[in-house]
Amino acid sequence: MRDAGILRNTAVAVSKGRIAMIGAANDLKNAYSNAEVIDCRGGVLTPGLVDSHTHAVFGKPRFEEHEQRADGLDYMEIAKRGGGIHASVRDFRQRTEDELYTLAIPRITELASYGTTTLEVKSGYGLSIEDELKAMRVIGRLAERQPVRIVATWLGAHEIPHEYRTSEARRAEFIDLLIDAMLPRVVEQDIARFADVFCEPGVFTIDETQRILEASRDAGLGIKLHADELKPCGGAELAASLGAVSADHLAAISQSGIEALAKSDTVATLLPGTMLFLGKTRQAPARALIDAGAAVALASDFNPGTSPTVNFPLMLTLGVSQLHMSLAEVLIAATVNGAAALGLAGETGQIAPGFAADLALFGIGDVRELPYWYGARLCVGSWKAGAPCHPYETGSNLHHRSPEVVPTG
Ligand code: NIG
Ligand code: FE
Repeated sequence: MRDAGILRNTAVAVSKGRIAMIGAANDLKNAYSNAEVIDCRGGVLTPGLVDSHTHAVFGKPRFEEHEQRADGLDYMEIAKRGGGIHASVRDFRQRTEDELYTLAIPRITELASYGTTTLEVKSGYGLSIEDELKAMRVIGRLAERQPVRIVATWLGAHEIPHEYRTSEARRAEFIDLLIDAMLPRVVEQDIARFADVFCEPGVFTIDETQRILEASRDAGLGIKLHADELKPCGGAELAASLGAVSADHLAAISQSGIEALAKSDTVATLLPGTMLFLGKTRQAPARALIDAGAAVALASDFNPGTSPTVNFPLMLTLGVSQLHMSLAEVLIAATVNGAAALGLAGETGQIAPGFAADLALFGIGDVRELPYWYGARLCVGSWKAGAPCHPYETGSNLHHRSPEVVPTG
């Protein structure tokens, strides 16, 4: 992760949705004399950002919890009182598929306007067979119709719904329902690429997580985990031993969890916006993970409870400022490693011949400005497989923030 391979004065040729050639503009103009030319005006072109962890399909926002936490109530305490994920579930179940689809569109358009071209979206606010299938259908429609690349994850195991929290037997019934009834229906619909579980003390135990994920893996899905977010419980170790594509959160990962991920192919996906928004002072040990040899990705965790932001580049800022990552590390974490966390490492996340032409253009003259102007929307255009994703704002002044780095050529 030390070298992001940054090039200057470079042009990119795109053909049939893929990167065909990279080099000096004149060489490319000779090689592709009939090509349409898009002038990036000395801006910074990156691989389209890969946001590998979101809960972007939901109904109402939950701003009341923000203030409750400021007042001293903890995330898990709010959940125990029927708020948190439970509040989103009650709301989600009342909404129609069309309504949820319509609510998601502007949120996704906004996510894309910050440079994200690949977006993972999880279900997980339905928690009944019908409502989880509804969520998966909404994600499927978005994947078909929205310009970003969308990867669907089934998160039926996001919470134990209230109606199953009345006894141990009822709890066991919910696990059986997930494995025997919900999973087969999700697989039959062929929309989910991954299954995920919120493995956390008070939510799903290690044993329950293992059962659900093994069944999902056997049914042909890739697997992911919400692991060691608030308290350490062996989630990272389980992710590595199951061959999960990613273990996400990890703010409370143990030393043995760090070692297990470093030895595995499981990507450590860190979500610094969540810890920031929840008001936690602790962040995931990105340095220890990277230095031990783990592949680290960054993601937004966009959701109505713990990370209501569409601004993925802000996670790069937090990566540098709070996780002590270098510029190269945050760039790789938001592109190459995000793609690996979605099983797409050979398809997107790099500007290299043969890769999909997923590109984001930023109105800055130096790539270090991307995490620097924090909170700003710097993306002025993006493309997925060569087609516009966030339409190029050609009228904007790309270099007004930092006139001294305006390139001359
Ligand atoms: O990734 N931790 C569990 N799930 C989400 C939060 C979902 C919610 O609060 O609505 C997360 O932070
Ligand atoms: Fe999450």
